[in-house]
Amino acid sequence: MNTPHFPETSADINDVLFEQIAVKLEEQGYVVLPSALPADISEQLLQVLAHQDETDFHEANIGRGANQTLNPFVRRDRILWIEAQMTSAKVWLDWTEQLRCYLNRRLFMGLFSFESHFACYQPGDFYKKHLDAFKGQSNRVLSLVTYLNRGWEPDQGGELVIYSEHNSEEPLTKVLPAFGTLVIFLSEEFPHEVLAASRERFSVAGWFRINTTHMDNLDPPS
Ligand code: OGA
Ligand code: MN
Repeated sequence: MNTPHFPETSADINDVLFEQIAVKLEEQGYVVLPSALPADISEQLLQVLAHQDETDFHEANIGRGANQTLNPFVRRDRILWIEAQMTSAKVWLDWTEQLRCYLNRRLFMGLFSFESHFACYQPGDFYKKHLDAFKGQSNRVLSLVTYLNRGWEPDQGGELVIYSEHNSEEPLTKVLPAFGTLVIFLSEEFPHEVLAASRERFSVAGWFRINTTHMDNLDPPS
């Protein structure tokens, strides 16, 4: 028998994924989804990387504004901000924009803008336990991380370890940086760290921000 075939549009696929994300965020404030980022987006992100020069990556600052410092005891990765004009960045930026709008409709999060960077960890590099935002001090509200590493084996390390706000000793979960895994969490509520790996580790970390502009203090600045 010939069963009719209704091809799913990518909008349908995203809606299922976005709803899964919304439910978990509502329930527990974070979500870990293996093989979740649509593969074409991961591929395009790898394309963006392929167009960059290694020397474009630089040491990341810690802190905000005038308080930014370099601290190799806290983090060792090198980063590169993703810009709209980068070749092949569009599908990633379109997808994160769709997610932003979905979460605003579904959870009334008031997400205003998005920023993201590639991070490259050399073998042995780490990022010590930190929060992406401090209550009342930052416009970052929702963190998103995905990974571009094919064939990552458990014994290669490099886990993202997520802790609960209330017990920052006991890990809630450990996430291998496997290709397409998606991690999303409330920026102010989950301390997390990146463990050293035995191979090069590529992630993309992004933040949805609210607009905390008041008076003449533009925040976000652009
Ligand atoms: C970060 C971060 C996590 C990761 O860049 O703030 O926590 O797994 N990254 O790369
Ligand atoms: Mn972080």
